[in-house]
Amino acid sequence: MRVKFFLALVFLLLSSSTLASTVIIADAMVDVNTGKLVENPLITIDEGRITSIRSATANQFTGDVIDLRGMTILPGMIDMHAHLTSSSQEHGYKRLASSQARAALRGVKHAKATLMAGVTTVRNLGAGGFIDVALRDSINAGDIVGPRLFVSGPSLGITGGHCDNNLLPVDYQVSSDGVADGPWEVAKKVRRNIKYGADLIKICATGGVLSKGTKVGVQQYSLEEMQMVVTEAHRRGITVAAHAHGTDGIYAAIEAGVDSVEHASFIDDAGIKLAKKNGTYLSMDIYVTEYILGEGAAAGILEESLAKERKTGSLQRENFTKAVKAGVKMVMGTDAGVYPHGDNLKQLSRMVQFGMTPMQALQAASVNAATLLNKENDIGSIKVGAYADIVAVKGKPLEDISVMEDVVFVMQGGIVVKPYSKVKQ
Ligand code: ARG
Repeated sequence: MRVKFFLALVFLLLSSSTLASTVIIADAMVDVNTGKLVENPLITIDEGRITSIRSATANQFTGDVIDLRGMTILPGMIDMHAHLTSSSQEHGYKRLASSQARAALRGVKHAKATLMAGVTTVRNLGAGGFIDVALRDSINAGDIVGPRLFVSGPSLGITGGHCDNNLLPVDYQVSSDGVADGPWEVAKKVRRNIKYGADLIKICATGGVLSKGTKVGVQQYSLEEMQMVVTEAHRRGITVAAHAHGTDGIYAAIEAGVDSVEHASFIDDAGIKLAKKNGTYLSMDIYVTEYILGEGAAAGILEESLAKERKTGSLQRENFTKAVKAGVKMVMGTDAGVYPHGDNLKQLSRMVQFGMTPMQALQAASVNAATLLNKENDIGSIKVGAYADIVAVKGKPLEDISVMEDVVFVMQGGIVVKPYSKVKQ
């Protein structure tokens, strides 16, 4: 009898310990839903999701908890515009030397670097050969570590446009995976991208900085073509992100109904007004200009692209300020891949420098992004029911946003992928 009782007790203890919640305590938590800082939070996590958020006196807990006292916790950050398969060291003609297989393996390394920097979700905008789909599936299967991925597959664009490859003469007959001209060709590409696993569609509405021979301010897809993309994509329940720098192209893309405008460099007052009216998100990569102009030449960026950047970066920053003032919906999109993966969150301090409050910048990189992804119940904030994607920084991000450049702890879906260590790793 006694033995039985003892065994039952042991069993109870063992099973309850395997069922025990993970607990996190910290000095403060940034609540991106209310826009407030919560002092002394105590978070419990079960089966990967947040099950309660209470406040605790810091000294109450010494035992079996993840002790992040001295730190501020935030939801895992979301980068809405990255290129995990691209290397910041390979631009222009250098890029031609890498196969898609090489790009895939590099993507594995980049995914890890991104996650370790505190970015637990990435929207990957454009990858040949559906490498991004493979990366996403490998991460979801647990084969490799990386952010949660939402991927576009090959970007759609016109022949000779920003999303084509214009580096080689006609003899080589090179054109990118996603090139499609005319409404029906475009519709077919949307369908093909969905067939092979895309979560969303990326299009190139205008020329770009880094593409050879394109004019950054000039519209490329016609309104008709973009309307077809949006109709096809929305019918299938997915969103459209449009690369657009030039004023007309931005306007046409918004008019066509895209869900986000990437770059939006030369957006004018009419564009800002229309974006606001339609609820279109802007994803303005205002850090990358520093890398392009500083280190781009050594990485192979063509002189013509550097010249384009000189005319784009500062105007984009001015227009960012205007769009923030006007109250347009904003997400953080960085274009990491053009610059080193893992440096994604350097953009936050520029977003503050050019007009956002630190809370607004953090919301752009969390709850706003999650909403655009249609995943606001799962990611983008620390709330009951959401995945426990939680990061920690030393210091106070609402006072000094640049502390986000040194994320010291990362949890993804309740699993600690970067433990806090006093020794800097
Ligand atoms: N991928 C973009 C393009 O080539 C990069 C633009 C970067 N410049 C900027 N100011 N945001 O157009």
